[in-house]
Amino acid sequence: MKIAIVTIFPRMFTGIFDFGIIRVSRERGIVDLEIIDIRDFTHDRHRTVDDRPYGGGEGMVLKPEPIFEAVEAVEQRWDQRAWRILLTPQGVPFCQQDAQRLATEKAVVVVCGRYEGVDQRVVDYLADEEISLGDFVVSGGEIPAMLLVDAVVRLLPGATGNPASVINESFSRGLLDYPHYTRPASFRGWPAPEVLMSGNHAEIENWRRQQARRRTGRNRPDLVTSDE
Ligand SMILES: C[S@@+](CC[C@H](N)C(=O)[O-])C[C@H]1O[C@@H](n2cnc3c(N)ncnc32)[C@H](O)[C@@H]1O
Repeated sequence: MKIAIVTIFPRMFTGIFDFGIIRVSRERGIVDLEIIDIRDFTHDRHRTVDDRPYGGGEGMVLKPEPIFEAVEAVEQRWDQRAWRILLTPQGVPFCQQDAQRLATEKAVVVVCGRYEGVDQRVVDYLADEEISLGDFVVSGGEIPAMLLVDAVVRLLPGATGNPASVINESFSRGLLDYPHYTRPASFRGWPAPEVLMSGNHAEIENWRRQQARRRTGRNRPDLVTSDE
């Protein structure tokens, strides 16, 4: 899979994709990640990427021309039309199903906004999809892009050593994950549940399902369905 992140702050990504599953996925050629500097697609001496809003008001708006050119240049180089995502708090909230859906794409471009956001023509004529990482506002699309890319890349075939680990986790089966324990069996007097050391796989499975339901009901009642 090819992913390009289009940003005015490319250096924010220094090192972020050099660890863990993403590093391994890049080394194995499972994902090809590029960071594209919007300023490289400006044509004036000051490399201007923003301007004052028409109609007045607060802040600055990212100009459409360098964003369109940056996206078109990467698609031309890839010889492929990519699925184009705009990160914005006004977008549809991102969830695990979106990560699963995006992991089936061959090529994705992620556009990071800044300041008051991007010129509306980027929304109307460039983006295929507007995605929000949650009901809060951060100062730029870069951190949301890091989250989105991480959530997608770890689902790519071959990215994780054990494919079951991404099937049996929170949200993938409608519930939150069950509690995990490791050694020591007793820590500061707090014991790990005996059932987990029983070797009885049916009982362990049963306990985990119950715990997952209980935790989901407590922390995320909105996820609980009548058949759970
Ligand atoms: C300060 S925000 C702009 C907020 C915008 N004026 C509003 O009120 O909806 C600047 C940029 O950060 C990114 N951003 C901020 N919050 C986000 C979120 N929850 N999800 C995705 N992107 C976000 C977007 O790319 C956005 O264009």
